[in-house]
Amino acid sequence: MSPLDTLESTAHALLAPGKGLLAADESFPTIGKRFKAFDIPPTEENRRAYRELLFTTRGLGESISGVILFDETIRQRTSKGPSMPELLAGLGIIPGIKVDLGAVPLPAFPGEKFTLGLDGLRERLAEYRRLGARFTKWRAVIAIGENGPADACLSANAQSLALFAALSQEAGMVPVVEPEILMDGAHEIGRCEEVAGATLARVFEALNVQRVVPGGMLLKTGMILPGEECPRQAGDSEVAEATLRCFRKYVPSAVPGIVFLSGGQDEVPATRRLNAICGVGGTPWKLTFSFGRALQDSAMKAWKGVPGNVAAAQEALGHRARCNSLAVRGSYGERVETERGGKTGSTA
Ligand code: 13P
Repeated sequence: MSPLDTLESTAHALLAPGKGLLAADESFPTIGKRFKAFDIPPTEENRRAYRELLFTTRGLGESISGVILFDETIRQRTSKGPSMPELLAGLGIIPGIKVDLGAVPLPAFPGEKFTLGLDGLRERLAEYRRLGARFTKWRAVIAIGENGPADACLSANAQSLALFAALSQEAGMVPVVEPEILMDGAHEIGRCEEVAGATLARVFEALNVQRVVPGGMLLKTGMILPGEECPRQAGDSEVAEATLRCFRKYVPSAVPGIVFLSGGQDEVPATRRLNAICGVGGTPWKLTFSFGRALQDSAMKAWKGVPGNVAAAQEALGHRARCNSLAVRGSYGERVETERGGKTGSTA
């Protein structure tokens, strides 16, 4: 197989029908914040135990094609001995890795951010591939402000995403190119559509200049939504229409798939909206989820860092994974949401 065939086949496997990605790549500050909400001490062992419980949820591979890991996790061993990527690969789940080093303030543009991590990236990518990663992720953060995002923010982020993607393809791993438009603010849904459109136009222009092969990458971004504080919230079909209209205009059809982040939406609305978007059909790219919080929230709440709660936490994750798997097929509804008790427990 040529390197391009490998990239395309990995992208295709990540987009297997009815499957999506689990984003479990929270950085130290982010996982610390999530643990703090349940008084879970942010220790290395707690992070290891938590990720192991997620990955060993029985039947996970039926709804999850790939897991995005954090640097610490890809190096950790499970309680049974194998490394985390070996555990996932053994379950038929493709290990991926977050490779950016986080977003920091953009100088001269208060409230805007750019993402660190290009220095030494070629060497880090080679190591991640040896450790078992087959795809990578880089997140750019775009805030919707009164006058923003500034052109400087869009161009800095588009350029880094494109360089990251080119380096990742060079290393034989599928880049998941993630420009996240934040939900913070009181803006209308139309403003989100406008900003997402401007962002995607810049990102795809930079990817093209950098010779990123569209067939060997995935786009990860949010649904088109009004700001969290907007007095007029949108219905699911309005969200679906705006999201698909924006993607049709700006995402080349040669990109095999678009995966959604959840971005702070609650679990059930995220699944409902995913169902509305995916239910439309007839898109040139495949659509699926790559949720962090909207897959994990209930599971972490059930676990609380207590070993005796592992089965309940796995039940919660298994349920959300099944609901989102059905949503990708447009077959999710209230009945499915209230129907619990599929296969539960641990594979290990
Ligand atoms: P959320 O689904 O919690 O937004 O996380 C997805 C992700 O990978 C953000 O980079």
